[in-house]
Amino acid sequence: MNRVVIVGSGGREHALADVLGRDADVIVTPGNAVIPNSVATSPLEIDADLFVIGPEAPLVAGLADQLREQGKLVFGPGSDGAQLEGSKAWMKDLVMEAGVPTARYGTFTEVDHAQTYLETMSPPYVIKTDGLAAGKGVLVTDSLREARTAVENYLSGSAFGGAGEKIVLEEGLIGPEISILAISDGKKAVALSPAQDFKRLLNNDLGPNTGGMGAYSPVPIASSSLVSDVLNNFIQPTIDTLIERGIDYRGVLYAGLMLTDGGPKLLEYNVRFGDPEAQVVLPRIETSLTNLLLEAASGDIKENPSFTSDAMVTIVCATEGYPTSPRMGDLITGIEEAIQSPGIEKVYVAGIDINEAQQPVTGGGRVLSVTGRGSTIQVARKNAYEGVDKIRWEGLQKRQDIAEGIE
Ligand code: AMP
Ligand code: GLY
Repeated sequence: MNRVVIVGSGGREHALADVLGRDADVIVTPGNAVIPNSVATSPLEIDADLFVIGPEAPLVAGLADQLREQGKLVFGPGSDGAQLEGSKAWMKDLVMEAGVPTARYGTFTEVDHAQTYLETMSPPYVIKTDGLAAGKGVLVTDSLREARTAVENYLSGSAFGGAGEKIVLEEGLIGPEISILAISDGKKAVALSPAQDFKRLLNNDLGPNTGGMGAYSPVPIASSSLVSDVLNNFIQPTIDTLIERGIDYRGVLYAGLMLTDGGPKLLEYNVRFGDPEAQVVLPRIETSLTNLLLEAASGDIKENPSFTSDAMVTIVCATEGYPTSPRMGDLITGIEEAIQSPGIEKVYVAGIDINEAQQPVTGGGRVLSVTGRGSTIQVARKNAYEGVDKIRWEGLQKRQDIAEGIE
């Protein structure tokens, strides 16, 4: 059996561990109190057939490069390719060169120049940190005043530190959003089944942006011709342009797309599996994920993955105060009941600590997500909510409208 090391500690890594664990021996570093085979050892000190790096920060910091220098087989881009997520300005320049449809934009470091550009735009105004901000660095607002204040706070460093000292201002696009995750071997890519996530904290897409409060897969509006269009006209030109820049990109190319009246447009690239998209897409895979990632890491994907027609819906539970100031240490009850609830695929854990009395307590902003399975999205949704409603702690935040009305 292949031995696979997964780097990371969240719900996405729990899903990766589960699905890769179907046909591989899995170790997770650092993992968490619930993910099986979590070890504190640095990945640089472990031997394995494959290394899969979950989060963006170690990719941007060059962990894949370090492991490759040791001769290891790695699924995940080097720090060069990881700039697709690590620098929005770099990403926008690259995709413009590749001819990928995306929002008009400008990149700024000076308040005056940014404010002048804002005057030329119409609402909604979109302000993004150039650097990583844990999924929270994007403001979309109809208020020019709020946009102007954000420009000042971002560029001064007071809002997001160094990540905001360069900003991207973008044309506001309108339409439904989908996530298409492609697996690239450096020359070509295959698509995973699409997902949709819910980035805002509150029902009806209100409240601040978060890392994601829920997701479902498959996505009825994402037809197979849309997926082919995205592979041919977004993903492949991006890989070709990366090659022109001397970048051998082996990992996930996650395209965040908006389906506008003028066709799909790229909002963002992530260089890793989405969280919580992974918790609905990965368990639906029927072929071997281990083989797919081994082939991608070796530079030659041989076949398309296939997916069950069953749908999955995941509901994220976050702590009080998330995303700005999550409160930790609240006692969690009901996890076993949720796992036993009909149609529950899995409870994926991101942030649980065990207290001195050996009880589970909240230990992160997004604590866990509960994935329900069903023959349709609505059946999966009902199962997911019946399961997740068993889980309690003080101040628990979850949305009630994940995948509502999706047929
Ligand atoms: P990003 O991290 O770039 O995906 O942005 C986070 C969220 O902000 C996206 O999922 C969208 O909901 C929203 N967003 C980003 N860019 C735009 C845009 N150009 N127009 C409208 N909404 C956007
Ligand atoms: N759910 C969005 C992300 O992983 O970036």
